[in-house]
Amino acid sequence: MKNLLKILFIVVTVLTTYACSKKEGCTDPLATNFNPNAEEDDGQCIYAEKGCMDSRASNFNPHAITDDGSCIFPLVPGQPTPSPLQIPQIFSQSLPAPIIPINNPQTVEGVSLGRKLFFDPILSGDGTLACASCHSPEFSFTDNSQFSTGITLQQGDRNSMPIFNAAWNVDINSDAKFFWDGRANGLEDQALGPVVNPIEMNNTWINATASLQADSEYPSLFNAAFGTTIIDSSLVTMALAQFERTLISGNSRADLFFLGQGSLTSSELSGYDLFTTEFGGDCFHCHGFANEPLFTDNAFHNNGLDATFLDLGLGDITGNPADNGKFKTPSLRNLAYTAPYMHDGRFATLDEVIDHYSEGLVHSSTIDPLLKYVAQGGVQLNPTEKADLKAFLLSLSEPDFITNPDFQDPN
Ligand code: HEC
Ligand code: HEC
Repeated sequence: MKNLLKILFIVVTVLTTYACSKKEGCTDPLATNFNPNAEEDDGQCIYAEKGCMDSRASNFNPHAITDDGSCIFPLVPGQPTPSPLQIPQIFSQSLPAPIIPINNPQTVEGVSLGRKLFFDPILSGDGTLACASCHSPEFSFTDNSQFSTGITLQQGDRNSMPIFNAAWNVDINSDAKFFWDGRANGLEDQALGPVVNPIEMNNTWINATASLQADSEYPSLFNAAFGTTIIDSSLVTMALAQFERTLISGNSRADLFFLGQGSLTSSELSGYDLFTTEFGGDCFHCHGFANEPLFTDNAFHNNGLDATFLDLGLGDITGNPADNGKFKTPSLRNLAYTAPYMHDGRFATLDEVIDHYSEGLVHSSTIDPLLKYVAQGGVQLNPTEKADLKAFLLSLSEPDFITNPDFQDPN
């Protein structure tokens, strides 16, 4: 009997040691952290019962198949339905593929849910303000005031940004950076901010998701899009990001011209010439051209607005004084709808913007070396050149983008 117990003890010890020290994954069937993808067993074997075990736990989802720290969700066969982005010819010709996170593929159900959420004030603390309040289709998904007003009637100190072509928001040096100062990495990450920002939607995520959970429609819409009726902040931001990625603008009159399928007026053509000439307006280094058709480099520059900085921009995020006064280059598409301009909305009209680059540049320690004519105040355009440059800029606006029925309020 004593020997039998001894043998049993040895067997159990060996089995346990084997299970918890195996090199590839924890294969102990009793282990609650069983994970076939784990490289090594950490020896603890204490985890949640099933599903995604994201350490942040905000997106715990019993339907998740793999835990890689970011939760990958399986597509239930038959639903949701994949919904590839509609890519304009000018983009497919010269841009890399759009960036879509592997754990958040575009689906019909996800996009439609994201669109409903984007226009729904349910996400705000007092149910009065939607994303669309500050990002309205008629203004190319920004608003028309210098500073947007949040639910507490407090104003921020930054101009709202238009939202389009966000799936191509990447520059060769970095990941997708959102906001004027680049503080958000990707659209999903970005959308976490405004809901809880006290001067924007002034809500908590616990409260926002509870309102959605208690709603008569949302749980079944989340089920259709993500295979779960349990609503959390990650799923909300994933749906919002899916909708935002569909906001693509690349079919302006200028694009048709670049593709050889349409024409520009002689004034617009002269304007394009100035735009792309070093001794003209010299805009293309930062704002693209026909072969870089986003009309932004998605990078951060100091474009000579101020001698000293009230707002440090990128420098506030990186802590590097060499980044002070640098802001994200905005796209020049849809300028007809996005006034006022610059991170602080200081210029009400395009004429003021062009005057700035022509004779208003101000020197500072971090001014971009690409602004070669700062010593003489700028590129010094005459009135005809200014009018031509403005005409070209406006030919990059796309009326069908702002009236696209798929982008309007569905509620
Ligand atoms: C009260 C107005 C307001 C509301 C409401 C609001 N935003 Fe914004 N949004 C802004 C402002 C202002 C900025 C620029 C802020 C900055 O750079 O610091 C911005 C920036 C953004 C950007 C960055 C775009 C880019 O190119 O980098 C995205 C995307 C965005 N908002 C999406 C949303 C979504 C999604 C919601 C709803 C969950 C939302 N916003 C709600 C005002 C608002
Ligand atoms: C060194 C890079 C650089 C060059 C060159 C440059 N820009 Fe900009 N542009 C920027 C940056 C960065 C911003 C945003 C600055 C801010 O808000 O603080 C901007 C903002 C703008 C805006 C405002 C858009 C909006 O939505 O608010 C317009 C319009 C514009 N530029 C047009 C031009 C034109 C026209 C030229 C040529 C005459 C030009 N830019 C040259 C970097 C540049």
